[in-house]
Amino acid sequence: MRPHPTPGNLPAELNHFVGRRRDLSEVAALLGRARLVTLSGVGGVGKSRLAVRAAVEAASGDRFPDGAWLVKLARVRDPGLVEHSVAEALGLTDHTTRLPLAALAAHLADRELRLVLDCCERQVEATARLTEALLRRAPGLRVLATSRQPLGVAGEHVLPLDPLADGAVELFADRAAAALPGFAVDEANRSEVAEPCRRLDGLPLALELAAGRMRALPLEQILERLDDRFALLTRTRVLRGPVRETARRLRGDGGPVVRAESTGAAETLDQRA
Ligand SMILES: Nc1ncnc2c1ncn2[C@@H]1O[C@H](COP(=O)(O)OP(=O)(O)O)[C@@H](O)[C@H]1O
Ligand SMILES: [Mg+2]
Repeated sequence: MRPHPTPGNLPAELNHFVGRRRDLSEVAALLGRARLVTLSGVGGVGKSRLAVRAAVEAASGDRFPDGAWLVKLARVRDPGLVEHSVAEALGLTDHTTRLPLAALAAHLADRELRLVLDCCERQVEATARLTEALLRRAPGLRVLATSRQPLGVAGEHVLPLDPLADGAVELFADRAAAALPGFAVDEANRSEVAEPCRRLDGLPLALELAAGRMRALPLEQILERLDDRFALLTRTRVLRGPVRETARRLRGDGGPVVRAESTGAAETLDQRA
């Protein structure tokens, strides 16, 4: 698949994408009838990854001649900068004195375009206001958002995302092989590999962090570090803590901050630190 089949700025994927066929077709179906679809779920569950994948697949379907554009909002600390972030992602440089919203609305008014607004939870109110204003003024606009909580905009369809089920072992194995060349799941180690996947509740970010440690630690030791306390915590609704906890445990005793080198997991973790 070409990375940019239509105009846009969607990044090409750096590593293997696992599973999610059902979620992908559900997103496609929802975007066929709703103008705003929000992927919701805990941090690290795979919202951003799925959103970009869904947008790439939709873009290759030719229904959006003006392309698909990704706006990363994770680092936007000021609500007043949400509009600028969208304008910047679209490559808009407005030399008039129009306010960003007016310039954005004018740009989008007669375009058939999809916006992926990633990590809206950071600025959920400002993003919701802007999204609603743009959807009203630009009939050809569709928005795919990712957010831990819904935007609360009229017409929004929320798709809650679950952790990986069957794909968890595949994801762990792929990232482990990147960390430790030659690593493969076979009959001999299958149940040993399934164990961390189960204990990490199939949470992709946690799986990547644990797999990244295969470079330095044998699987048994990784398992030892993911003790029952972690399993207990992940069964509660508070997953933010456990993701940190995974990182802390895997970091060991004062070693360098864990990085899942082969992936964007470290970046994702930074955003949560
Ligand atoms: N289906 C998947 N296949 C491969 N990697 C995935 C998948 N889902 C998530 N990941 C990886 O797991 C990490 C966390 O996912 P991310 O989309 O950033 O979570 P969220 O946006 O929900 O916080 C990222 O490094 C991402 O690339
Ligand atoms: Mg995200």
